[in-house]
Amino acid sequence: MERIAGNGDRVAICLTGGSSPKQLYQLLATEAYRSQIPWARVHWFIGDERFVRSDDPLNNMAMARRTFLDLCAPAANVHPIPTDAADPEQAARRYERELQSFYGAHQLDSTRPLFDVVLMGVGPDGHTASLFPGYPDLDETERWVVGVPKAHVEPFVPRVTLTLPALNSCREMLFEVSGADKRTILTRVLAGENLPASRAHSICETIWLVDKAAVPENFRGQ
Ligand code: 6PG
Repeated sequence: MERIAGNGDRVAICLTGGSSPKQLYQLLATEAYRSQIPWARVHWFIGDERFVRSDDPLNNMAMARRTFLDLCAPAANVHPIPTDAADPEQAARRYERELQSFYGAHQLDSTRPLFDVVLMGVGPDGHTASLFPGYPDLDETERWVVGVPKAHVEPFVPRVTLTLPALNSCREMLFEVSGADKRTILTRVLAGENLPASRAHSICETIWLVDKAAVPENFRGQ
C-alpha cells in the first residue's frame, strides 16, 4: 500500500502464479484493502504464465482475475500474457512489446524501474517465475520475456516468463513462501546457492514473507 501511495503517477505491479499468493489476492478484494487502492492508476502484469488458454484453471492470470482483478480493476489495466499466440515464443515477443510500450523504451534504465512491485514465489527446485535451474533463459541479458518449451516441475505445460533483467527492474520485490515443504529449498536459496530464486532481487528493496512452517532451521528463534 505504501509503495502505491508513494507513487502518485501510474503504478505497475507484477503478480505471480502458483498457490501461495491466493490469500493475498483474496485480501486485496476485501473492502479494507479495496478502498485503499487507486484502481484507475494501478496496472497489473504477471511474471510468468502457463501456456494454456486464458480460461484454463491452470492459467495464472485467470486465478488473479477470478480472485480480485475482475472485481476491482478496470479491464484496460489488466495485462495478461497472450496465450492465444501461436506458441510460447510468439506470446513472449508480444508481451515484451506490451511491456516496452508501457515503459516507453526498449532498454531498461536502472534509475527508472519497470515495476513498482514484483511478487514472487519459490518452487521446490528453487525456480522462480518460470526460470528453472540450469535453463539457459536464466542468463538472458537482452530479452524481457522468453518462451520456455518445457517446464521442470508440474504442471508440465510450456511456459512464458519474464527474465531476470525485467523482473529485477523493480522498486520492491516481495517473495511469498509458505508451508513446511518449502523449508529445505528456502534454506538453500537463503544460503546463496546458485538457484534462480537466489538471483532474483530488486534493484532497491527485496522482502521475504515466510510463514512459520517454511522458516529454515538456522533462522528459527531469530
Ligand atoms: C507458476 C509460478 C511459480 C510459482 C512457484 C511457487 O506458474 O507455477 O509462477 O513460479 O510461483 O512455483 O508456487 P507455489 O506458490 O504454488 O508454491
